[in-house]
Amino acid sequence: MIQETLVTSQNTAGLVHIAPMGIHRDGDHFVILPFRPSATLDNLLATGVAVLNYCDDVRVFAGCLTGRRDWPVKPAVTITGSVLACALAHTELALLHIEDDDTRPKLFCKAVHTANHAPFQGFNRAQFAVLEAAILVSRLHWLPPEKIASEIAYLKIGLEKTAGPKEWEAWQWLMDTIAAHTSEVAL
Ligand SMILES: Cc1cc2nc3c(=O)[nH]c(=O)nc-3n(C[C@H](O)[C@H](O)[C@H](O)COP(=O)(O)O)c2cc1C
Repeated sequence: MIQETLVTSQNTAGLVHIAPMGIHRDGDHFVILPFRPSATLDNLLATGVAVLNYCDDVRVFAGCLTGRRDWPVKPAVTITGSVLACALAHTELALLHIEDDDTRPKLFCKAVHTANHAPFQGFNRAQFAVLEAAILVSRLHWLPPEKIASEIAYLKIGLEKTAGPKEWEAWQWLMDTIAAHTSEVAL
């Protein structure tokens, strides 16, 4: 199973980095697969730890893809790391081993601490739409413009029916980024 999480990691100087990542999970073992180059990869190799944040504020996912990476954090409990203030729950990870690859190494990790902070509020189609649109934004440079346009048109149906203010704000950031990319490509 793959879970869409926000990975917080930090470098040896303590600078926190937040990145959305699809994490492969098997019990209390997790695999993080960062595409090179990746600050998350560099930080995990340097410190051996990271935090998975389970978060329903999709502005953080959209924000990280649109240059808004400064989100409130608090200290992790058992590792030198940071937890997103908006996380409903989080898991602290220790790196066990790496399966290296020129494109996408696999980082095998084990959970060392998990905590709940707030209740899960149920599924929301607009949050799904924002996550999918954020993935499209992360692939803007490979995908044909027609594919992006058709997927956005479909995702907008669920968004318009179910979004709250946070989902609309996140969606707008993503649409601005897609519009800027489209006009750049057209030049
Ligand atoms: C929902 C979602 C899942 C993502 N999963 C991955 C992933 O598994 N691996 C990856 O390299 N990038 C993934 N991305 C894109 C990264 O978040 C983005 O490119 C990021 O900047 C990664 O590089 P970094 O470690 O340097 O921050 C994902 C983006 C989204 C929105």
